[in-house]
Amino acid sequence: MAREVTHTARGPLKIDESDLDDEKGDVAICLCGLSREYPFCDGSHRVTEDEEAGVRYKYEDDPDGERRVIEDVVLK
Ligand code: FES
Repeated sequence: MAREVTHTARGPLKIDESDLDDEKGDVAICLCGLSREYPFCDGSHRVTEDEEAGVRYKYEDDPDGERRVIEDVVLK
């Protein structure tokens, strides 16, 4: 399984202790690329749970939106 995600950020975001989750005492960084609170995990990764091995997906900007299976990424 693979996932293509469009990012629009043009630089880093520095995080500090103010970003710690008050209840858990940690910071969860999104690695799926679908968080609406990127770079922090907001639970949007749950929509990836049924992704199949060997399949490449493209999600629309809204994690609740359309998910398409794509064959290849063509770079120009
Ligand atoms: S890892 Fe991306 S939303 Fe949780």
